[in-house]
Amino acid sequence: MSRIVGIDLGTSTSEIGCIVNGAAKLIPNTLGKLITPSVVHIGQDGEILAGEEAAEYLFTRPDCTFMEVKRLTGSNEKLKAHGKEYAPEEIQAMLLRYLVGCAETNLREKIDRAVITVPAYFTDVQRRATAKAGELAGLQVERIINEPTAAALDYGLSNLKECKNVLVYDLGGGTLDVTVLELFEGVIEVKASCGNNHLGGKDFDEIIMTRLADPLGDERALMRLKKAAEDCKIALSTREEFRVSLPFLLTGKDGKPISVDKTIGRNEFEEWITEKVQSTREPMLSALADAKLGREDLQIILLVGGSTRIPCVKKLVEDTLGTVPHSLVDPDLTVARGAAIQAGLIEGSIHNKDLVLTDVCPYTLGTAPLERGLFGSRQVFDPVIPRNITIPTERTKLYTTAADYQTEVLIHVYQGESSDPDNNERLGELHLTEIPSARQGKEQIEVTFGYDMNGILQVKASVVSTGRQVSAEISTTGVKAGPLLDLSKWEEAEGARPFRPLIRKAEKLIASGRDIGGDIGLLTRRLKEALLLKNQENAQELRDQLMLMLEVMEKMDKSS
Ligand SMILES: Nc1ncnc2c1ncn2[C@@H]1O[C@H](COP(=O)(O)OP(=O)(O)OP(=O)(O)O)[C@@H](O)[C@H]1O
Ligand SMILES: [Mg+2]
Repeated sequence: MSRIVGIDLGTSTSEIGCIVNGAAKLIPNTLGKLITPSVVHIGQDGEILAGEEAAEYLFTRPDCTFMEVKRLTGSNEKLKAHGKEYAPEEIQAMLLRYLVGCAETNLREKIDRAVITVPAYFTDVQRRATAKAGELAGLQVERIINEPTAAALDYGLSNLKECKNVLVYDLGGGTLDVTVLELFEGVIEVKASCGNNHLGGKDFDEIIMTRLADPLGDERALMRLKKAAEDCKIALSTREEFRVSLPFLLTGKDGKPISVDKTIGRNEFEEWITEKVQSTREPMLSALADAKLGREDLQIILLVGGSTRIPCVKKLVEDTLGTVPHSLVDPDLTVARGAAIQAGLIEGSIHNKDLVLTDVCPYTLGTAPLERGLFGSRQVFDPVIPRNITIPTERTKLYTTAADYQTEVLIHVYQGESSDPDNNERLGELHLTEIPSARQGKEQIEVTFGYDMNGILQVKASVVSTGRQVSAEISTTGVKAGPLLDLSKWEEAEGARPFRPLIRKAEKLIASGRDIGGDIGLLTRRLKEALLLKNQENAQELRDQLMLMLEVMEKMDKSS
């Protein structure tokens, strides 16, 4: 069998490693460096550069040079270069290809298998998109593993005799992950993970940028400003103040050049970011609570990710947990080392009788069945797999038909912690047909959720009486990652006006409890979503579907 590499595909930087003589080793890139900037440049003739060589084009060709692409993972956003569009995973694949190419040169062998890390708090869609990027890079993705878990593997392998409770606090360029785990003589049991997919060093850079200048849509000025802001931030981790000087940054509206020359103090900077830093306290407490541990039960705190070098970040962790964090792992390299160890466990170069790992599913996953109440019926979120359950896992729930003579059902799949499905992320749906026609509640439907070691979800549904099963993977098309849209604001969206009468009509019908099966509710929500996303084409398609459904309802009402 061929060798498996471990890759930390980060927002700002990426690393690749493998097992050599039973130990994790990072592999240098073609420039001899272990850390590669996560930057990709596409040249005029389609030539692709990645890493430091690509980063040089950030200032001269920002239009076809991409950074921080990881934050777009799983979204429908497209990146444009030379009139061609690329999906985020295509760009990620180019970066992966570069890293693997460096490893091939270094090891003098072909590499086509990899373990890739993702933030623990990455959604199902984001994990699939990451696996897709690996595939596009010509890799067989053997496992997707959580970044803090990888850090724990790295620590665990060098401390096989220990029995300790560990908290990993990982604040990188774009994501925060907090994981609580137990180490017991080589058995690593992840107890809980919490986090935020949209918080990291890049947010701190942006805060500094807004205090320095407004680049007025000038891409090059924006890049220079970003670089200066990051340099300033990094300097302030060790210095009390830093002078940012950007002569002739851009041309003002009056045609005069604008320069920046400003000295920023550490105190001032820490004040600007305090709200964001403080927001990381909640995930720590929540992960501890889910792990059923008090802060006094923690023996070790591992700091991972470049942003944990900021003094006030370290201090917040210490104040929240009452323990001084250790510098026992290398904050930049430990995740890639852990990925390499996981690769070693799979390829057999590390024996898993020495090191055993169990991980958790950080989110609650469930369906949204119809609940009948005093005020009609509505969809409620019904958890099938509760969050922070050890994986792999499979859970089954039994439902019954909601209406008389109902012969099909759409099973909606959501991920999140709110009892209102609208506040959770919709992952997809499963369509079960050929339910024998019977009175309401007579036919039973069994729904099974399977969550595998990669954190990827499989949903099955079957009719109990006939055994008819749909075992297709849930479809995840059209799902956006990133912040949830505020659907209540749909009326403010551009071009929403003509849709108002239809949406009002649908809402009335839903409120009266006649939306059996919840499909009108679903279409209405999707329509609002499309309007907010300014996707007119999609909105019109949804409008047609919704109109058709309302018409059918009206006809049925008339005939009964
Ligand atoms: N000394 C420092 N002080 C403050 N911030 C730093 C320092 N060194 C690096 N950073 C910041 O850390 C971030 C990069 O960290 P890291 O490489 O761990 O992230 P990543 O793995 O790319 O991101 P993620 O894990 O979120 O996907 C950048 O925002 C960088 O500016
Ligand atoms: Mg990272």
